[in-house]
Amino acid sequence: MAIKHLTNTRDFTVGEIEKLFQKAQKYKNKLIKKTLQDKLIITIFFENSTRTRSSFEVAAKNLGANVVSLNIATSSSSKGETLFDTAANLDAMNPHAIVVRHKNSGVPKILSNYVKCPIVNGGDGSFAHPTQALLDLFTIRQYLGNNLENKKIAIVGDIKNSRVANSNIELLGRFGLDITLVAPPQFLPSTTKLKTSHNLKQTIKEVDIVMSLRTQTERHTSQMYASLKDYASDFCITKEIVEDKNIILLHPGPVHRNIDIDDKMLSDPRCKVLNQVENGVYIRMAVLDTLINHT
Ligand code: NCD
Repeated sequence: MAIKHLTNTRDFTVGEIEKLFQKAQKYKNKLIKKTLQDKLIITIFFENSTRTRSSFEVAAKNLGANVVSLNIATSSSSKGETLFDTAANLDAMNPHAIVVRHKNSGVPKILSNYVKCPIVNGGDGSFAHPTQALLDLFTIRQYLGNNLENKKIAIVGDIKNSRVANSNIELLGRFGLDITLVAPPQFLPSTTKLKTSHNLKQTIKEVDIVMSLRTQTERHTSQMYASLKDYASDFCITKEIVEDKNIILLHPGPVHRNIDIDDKMLSDPRCKVLNQVENGVYIRMAVLDTLINHT
């Protein structure tokens, strides 16, 4: 049987995603069997992470797997060689899946050519973060129902540099959502077929979902905004702007408080950030079980 990887959201068809979500829902309902008993999962994060790595590890352990974590912040040797060597070394330990995060786009895909087990992308450069998009879609469905045809979402922030935006644009578009990108011009992709807006207040009036994103300062080669404060005055999701509009508010974390979302909206019941974190564990359990057990 061919090895199935999750390097970007396109690796799963709509049908496969529906099955994945059914499984995640079972886990959410506490119907959990140790289906990864005696399996070895290696997580290797070449870039910092707080919740994604722990989320994968909790997910793997919930299903009974053994987890080994390698934390490699930087590497001095030449990249191609390092990656090839790393892949060969990890593979020699016969893991059942490898979860990888890397600052360069495309690394999980390259690794998938060198190993005998599924590769799961935990985020690569500004390219893709498939499990984040899956957990975002799963969370949206929890509040808005399964039929999202023509539901409206505003994705707000540093879209150009955001792998979360990239994966969500692909996935949410496929599930029929109507997407508007809201950002200053320098944070918008240079070409896009989607609607764009520089006016947050106006767009919020028209949507059902707001997804705020962090300004990806580590990916900027030069300063992209006068200051984060200036950015916030135009694009921070505040209670004043949202008013009593019936929306749900998402953010992948880590949140820049009062830059991305203000204190009041972060503690507002419409803010689903912690529900996203909880759902992330169920989604990652479902991904690991599906790829490892071929179910
Ligand atoms: C995101 C990431 O690392 O891509 N965070 C996450 O995985 N929860 C978003 C970000 O860093 O802004």
